Amino acid sequence: MFKRVSAAIAAGLLVAAGLAACGGDSGGGKDDGKITMGFAQVGAESGWRTANTKNIQESAKAAGIELKFSDAQGKQENQIKAIRSYIAQKVDVIAFSPKIESGWDQVLKEAKDAGIPVILTDRAVDSKDPSFYKTFLGSDFVLEGKKAGEWLVTDSKAAKGAVNVIQLEGTAGSAPANDRTSGFADAIKADPKIKIVASQDGDFSRAKGKEVMEALLKAHPEANVLFAQNDDMGLGAMEAIEAAGKKPGVDIKIVTIDAVKDGMTALANGQFNYIVECNPLLGPQLMDLAKQVVDGKSVPKRVLTKESAFDQTQAKAALPSRQY
Ligand code: AHR
Repeated sequence: MFKRVSAAIAAGLLVAAGLAACGGDSGGGKDDGKITMGFAQVGAESGWRTANTKNIQESAKAAGIELKFSDAQGKQENQIKAIRSYIAQKVDVIAFSPKIESGWDQVLKEAKDAGIPVILTDRAVDSKDPSFYKTFLGSDFVLEGKKAGEWLVTDSKAAKGAVNVIQLEGTAGSAPANDRTSGFADAIKADPKIKIVASQDGDFSRAKGKEVMEALLKAHPEANVLFAQNDDMGLGAMEAIEAAGKKPGVDIKIVTIDAVKDGMTALANGQFNYIVECNPLLGPQLMDLAKQVVDGKSVPKRVLTKESAFDQTQAKAALPSRQY
């Protein structure tokens, strides 16, 4: 455990108290100078999440941070249990990617009372008390939805008839689903011929994306665009589109978010039409922020990741060097 008490103060305290042993700070435990981080991952619902997990594990190792990692298998209650166990283990810092935005105040208060700093990664919480966490590192999900919508507005300029969109939303109540929905809706207002004819939760997974798209295609044969809020749902939906005898990327244009390898391959093959990038490689920035907060340094409350977007030609060029 890393002692946040500075060496000078600690030495002073030890002399004054005449103690041979080291006094504990909120982190407690052994004083080996190493930072211990407890990370409560949401699950393994998508290619993005797999890349994110791998990057966090590799980055902790590279930064010399001892990582205690748990996978909540898509359940908020498991994330809460993991955070409580990290508090009990007196880790130096807790990081997590909250499944949904609400329901975190109690456990965040427990971490705060134990003096353990918390870093939100990837997704936000709706807590009204900003002192519950030190910083939030992740994408601007509203901007991602907006970029997807702006692409559709530009692409639809030449369209003669109605542009009927099916939207596959991410996990209900999650920050990316809420924010991408609002960013997209805001952007498509610019063209009244673009209409969302159906919008449903596809839980960010390939299997659910396929299942929901099968039903929505039957209910909305007029649909000619799919906005899937991540690549995995888009890839599942692509199978449903093909099974319905339609050509993805042509009969139904597809715009997604993430830009993982499988999505980029579909884009390069002409089955997707546009992808807005969401960067899962948050590990190096997270470890850097962890060192700073454990050290008692002040960090910006919001740290944004850099992201771009790809059309079919750009996907072909980017694919060979794509890391995830
Ligand atoms: O929170 C980020 C989102 O979660 C990614 O877009 C999605 O693929 C993942 O599961």
